[in-house]
Amino acid sequence: MPDVTLIPGDGIGPEITDATLRVLEATGLEWNWDRQLGGMAAVDAAGDPLPEATLESIRRTRLALKGPLTTPVGGGFRSINVALRKEFELFANVRPAKTIVPGGRFDGVDIVMVRENLEGLYIGQEQWVEVNGDPHGRAESVAVVTRTGAERVVRYAFEYALTHGRRKVTLVHKANILKNTSGLFLEVGREVAAEYAGRVECNDLIVDNCAMQLVMYPERFDVLVTTNLFGDILSDQISGLVGGLGLAPGGNIGRHAAIFEAVHGSAPDIAGQGIANPSALILAAAMMCDHVGEDAVGDRIRRAIVATIVADKVRTRDLGGTATTEEFGRAVAARVA
Ligand code: NAI
Ligand code: MG
Repeated sequence: MPDVTLIPGDGIGPEITDATLRVLEATGLEWNWDRQLGGMAAVDAAGDPLPEATLESIRRTRLALKGPLTTPVGGGFRSINVALRKEFELFANVRPAKTIVPGGRFDGVDIVMVRENLEGLYIGQEQWVEVNGDPHGRAESVAVVTRTGAERVVRYAFEYALTHGRRKVTLVHKANILKNTSGLFLEVGREVAAEYAGRVECNDLIVDNCAMQLVMYPERFDVLVTTNLFGDILSDQISGLVGGLGLAPGGNIGRHAAIFEAVHGSAPDIAGQGIANPSALILAAAMMCDHVGEDAVGDRIRRAIVATIVADKVRTRDLGGTATTEEFGRAVAARVA
């Protein structure tokens, strides 16, 4: 029975977590849950959006399923998601996107974005420089790419491709302009790709061209790997190709821990109304099953989501339906059982 830290989170978090637990329970696979606080729920209870007890729990379980966390604006609170990634060195952010509802604007999309999660422009090294007496006359930001950092995330993408029966990895970069940072990422990427020659295909694309091609020919893409900022932007774009944030799961993967979550946030505009789509978190839970070696259970959950949405036509409002979060969760649980 895997030990796992459960953080229901804020806004729609508790509602989609309930639905997800119902589905997981229906699989018959048992988990040893350790419920912990994070986000505003933790600020209210403990005055800290990321309490030590929560970190301690993840240190022990090395595995977490996390609802969205609202990052309080101001007040000196650190970004909880960035803090968690740093704390547990979760270097790869894996975001699969697959067409669920056929006949939409984009068909046959099946793309996995592997985003570098710790480096690039997200290290938080920014500063103001005074220009002609204006203290905000110039803003600077430092981007960091290391050989080690680039290598481990690209290697992760190729290993992911191998173990998931994927045929191609696309390296996404801007090495024509960012000759050092993006240049190093591309150079290391090509070196790693050479080790997989004959097993996994590799090509590379400049990020702006990649953005265009994703919209024109999404079916040509398989696994993508890129630096932090490009991955952040492109993964939201890719989730849009398959029906939006309600269907987009993600995993933050490190050598010693992994945290699974929906790509979306706490959706304060619909929180408490029971209408959120729990699919993203349910699909994240399916990724968690794969992660602990229960791929067959993960597959059952993914098939149950598809059957519920496509065959049973049970859909939440974001997908044009009228089902509540709870009704949708029950329907998926019935399909899984
Ligand atoms: P959001 O993702 O919460 O919402 C964007 C839009 O998508 C809203 O209209 C919302 O109603 C809709 N939406 C999101 N998830 C949905 C679902 N499951 N079903 C149906 N509709 C859904 O983004 P927003 O509003 O920018 O952020 C709200 C809060 O969430 C902020 O405090 C932000 O910091 C936090 N956040 C946390 C993340 C995390 O914990 N991983 C990720 C992104 C944002
Ligand atoms: Mg983002």
